[in-house]
Amino acid sequence: MTVPLLYLFRRPCGRNSLQMCAESPPRRLAPHFGGTLTMPALAQLYFRTAILFLIAGISIGIFMSISGNHAVMGAHAHINLLGWVTSALFGTYLALNPAKAAGLLPRLQYGVYVLGVLAMGTSLYLMLDGNASIEPVVAVSSLVAFAGVLLFAVIIFMPARS
Ligand code: HEM
Repeated sequence: MTVPLLYLFRRPCGRNSLQMCAESPPRRLAPHFGGTLTMPALAQLYFRTAILFLIAGISIGIFMSISGNHAVMGAHAHINLLGWVTSALFGTYLALNPAKAAGLLPRLQYGVYVLGVLAMGTSLYLMLDGNASIEPVVAVSSLVAFAGVLLFAVIIFMPARS
C-alpha cells in the first residue's frame, strides 16, 4: 500500500491547528467566505475519521443484508450515526468556526470521542453477536463517547480564542 494508514492521521506541522504542512496546502472554503478561510486540520481529521466509520458501518449493513442475520443492527446504526453522521457534523462545525479548532481542548475532545465510539461500536457488535460478557466494555465506552459529546458542548459554548 503506497499510502500508509498513519498518513491519514498525521498531525499538523505547527502547534497552531490552523497551520498546515507544506505538502498539504490550505484548503480554501467556498468563495462566499472570501476565499481566505482555511479548513482547520482537526476538521479534516474529523472527516477522514467519519468516512472510515461510514465504510465500516455500511460494510456491516451489507453483511446483515447478505446473511439475513440482523442481530448486529444496533452496532450498524450506532457506528453510522455516531461515527459517520456526528463526526461529520463535528468536523463541519470546526470547519465553519476555525478559531474553535485551536488549542488543546478540541484535540482532547476528538481523542475522547473517537476512542469512545470506536470502542463502543466494536464492543456492541461483539455483544450483539453473542458475547454477553463484553457488556461492561459497552457500558464504559458509551460513557467515554458521551464525555466526548459533553466536551464538544464546552467547545460550542466557550468563547472563540482570538
Ligand atoms: C449500503 C448501506 C446500508 C445497508 C446495506 C444497510 C442495511 C441495514 C439493515 C439490513 C438494517 C436492519 C433492518 C432491520 O432489521 O429492521 C439496517 C438498520 C439500520 N440502519 Fe442501515 N444500512 C445501510 C446504511 C445506513 C446508514 C448510512 C445509516 C445511517 C447514517 C443507517 C442507519 C440504520 C439504522 C438507524 C438502522 C436501524 C433501523 C431500525 O431500528 O429499524 N444505515 N440497515
